[in-house]
Amino acid sequence: MNAGIIGIGRYLPEKVLTNFDLEKMMDTSDEWIRTRTGIEERRIASDDMNTSDMGYLAALKAIEHAGISAQDIDLILVATVTPDRPFPSVACMLQERLGAAKAAALDISAACAGFIYGMVTAKQFIETGAYKYILVVGVEKLSKILNWQDRNTAVLFGDGAGAVVMGPVSEGRGILSFELGADGTGGKHLYQDEYVIMNGREVFKFAVRQMGESCINVLEKAGLTKKDVDFLIPHQANIRIVEAARQRLELPEDKMSTTIRKYGNTSAASIPISIVEEYEAGKIKDDDLIIMVGFGGGLTWGAVALRWGR
Ligand code: UT7
Repeated sequence: MNAGIIGIGRYLPEKVLTNFDLEKMMDTSDEWIRTRTGIEERRIASDDMNTSDMGYLAALKAIEHAGISAQDIDLILVATVTPDRPFPSVACMLQERLGAAKAAALDISAACAGFIYGMVTAKQFIETGAYKYILVVGVEKLSKILNWQDRNTAVLFGDGAGAVVMGPVSEGRGILSFELGADGTGGKHLYQDEYVIMNGREVFKFAVRQMGESCINVLEKAGLTKKDVDFLIPHQANIRIVEAARQRLELPEDKMSTTIRKYGNTSAASIPISIVEEYEAGKIKDDDLIIMVGFGGGLTWGAVALRWGR
């Protein structure tokens, strides 16, 4: 039994915060942010919209798109580092609001690699036949854990949610291979105290090396090569980091998602938000080979090679 994506949805807050808005709030410039990160604007959730609210709205769309009902869902996995509160989990809050009465539910904490960790976890349950439909959500309200006086971090992140329903798909489709990894010794480079603290240069070096390697590793595990790749969806952390991954795969520019320009770094939400963006733009079609790769605080990383379609 192959596990694949059978429904997708996302939610982005309406409020747009541009680089020019940030110029008025701190000592930074549109020019610096654009050239160093690729970000032009990001979305910020309103005070009355918490992580679970965004996750719920994305999940509703994914369930509808999959053509199933919430009662069919066996498990809810929510990748987030910004839950509404430590417990109950965001996954349990979604279970109630969706009416997914039979679903087990838990949050996954793997920072920006969390959505890949979630998809790979879901794959195990589906392939063993233990569960049929699993909702995997990546959602963050990073704005609530940013120090808005710290230009090193505040300009980078944004809020949003993406969700997929995973389930059994036909032979040859779905997740063909995966890689997950962690290096706790690098935890000191990116963590939350009260706010997000980051050693940008160290994370940058790690990300460039690890993203490229993980892409190559999942291709090898699937018995495929760079030439087989149709589209790359990397975690949207920095345009220079994702460009390095694209070059490692020798892909043309239009074969990689760069939603970072509009949404900034939305951590666990960036990959599922990008999936929806690219699918709606017609960039992802049945039988395309998609590589998704993420990295983040932990340090953590993960990648999947996925053949699109049900
Ligand atoms: O999801 C995973 C999480 N994080 C990441 O993936 C982040 C990875 N790292 C990065 O993306 C980059 O390291 C940054 C974008 C964070 C920083 O870019 P950089 O090219 O590594 O810049 P830098 O940290 O070396 O800083 C260069 C200069 C510094 O000034 P001095 O010391 O050279 O005078 C910074 O103080 O840029 C300054 N700077 C800024 N200037 C204007 C740092 N942030 C800003 C800012 N506006 N927002």
